[in-house]
Amino acid sequence: MLDRTDTLTLQREAFRRDVLEGLALSQKTIPARWLYDDRGSELFEDITKLDEYYPTRTERAILERHAGDIAQKLGPKASLIEYGAGAGIKTEIVLDALDDPELYVPIDIAGDFLEASAERLRGRFPALDVHPVVGDFTDDIDLPDSLPDEGRRCGFFPGSTIGNLDPKDAVTFLKRMRGHVGRGGRAVLGADLKKPIEDLRRAYDDSEGVTAAFNQNLLIRINRELGGDFPHDAFHHEARWNDAESAVEMHLVADREVSVSVAGQSFDFHEGETIHTESSRKYDRASLGKLAGSAGWEIESFWTDDKDRFSVTMLKAA
Ligand code: AVI
Repeated sequence: MLDRTDTLTLQREAFRRDVLEGLALSQKTIPARWLYDDRGSELFEDITKLDEYYPTRTERAILERHAGDIAQKLGPKASLIEYGAGAGIKTEIVLDALDDPELYVPIDIAGDFLEASAERLRGRFPALDVHPVVGDFTDDIDLPDSLPDEGRRCGFFPGSTIGNLDPKDAVTFLKRMRGHVGRGGRAVLGADLKKPIEDLRRAYDDSEGVTAAFNQNLLIRINRELGGDFPHDAFHHEARWNDAESAVEMHLVADREVSVSVAGQSFDFHEGETIHTESSRKYDRASLGKLAGSAGWEIESFWTDDKDRFSVTMLKAA
């Protein structure tokens, strides 16, 4: 087993590799997963509370409305496998509705955070076996031996994080989840829906500048962890709609010509050049069905809010 120091060293090495490779591309790109250091995670929490950022509260309301349907489809003694366990509020909505759930397996890279939320859920659901797994859900993961029979397992992937994966990685992930639940298994998937660009722009470039700070924190992280010297005032946040990808993209745009050094290597930016830091893909029922279909799933139920802003889909192993 890797201890905390080993995990941090491996993470730091992967971060360094991704940043150095990404800054050498003609469209400079850094994978979105690196937005989430401690400060980035705090800022993301703040984003979820903004009026302009509708996904979190909309998804919660859909789950509240349909938790009974989820419970009815899963039946008694179901087990839930959650990928990238968050603050646990959405999990509680589902667990509360389930009939005598047997096992909850939250999977997350942040071991300390995972243990704390597992402890809280054990207090809240004393009869539930909570078995956290420290790991990256975009890699292969060993699940506990105590998983009950196929047919009573349900993957849980709320939050529309599926939209932050490129389509190839999204299919790989959905196939992995399909493998975890086995024959007759199900999954509950949160995905953000296509909508007018102006609504998306407000959600991804909010008036308080929280999303801008979340994006710019990546440069602060590079400076701190990789010995970078990004000037703090040389890049601004921009949210762009990419129609071909059906995605909102976050970019950091150079306000002037600037040369930076990271881990001893130097990178030049011309004025207006950007680092692409995140894509947030927006789906509709058809595109989601196609994505899920290519990973061995079919849509069993598709629930949205009254303005069709967000979706919670129940998938069934095909
Ligand atoms: C985590 N993820 C689903 C968020 C999203 O909406 O794509 C991350 C985010 N980026 C900017 N605001 C929120």
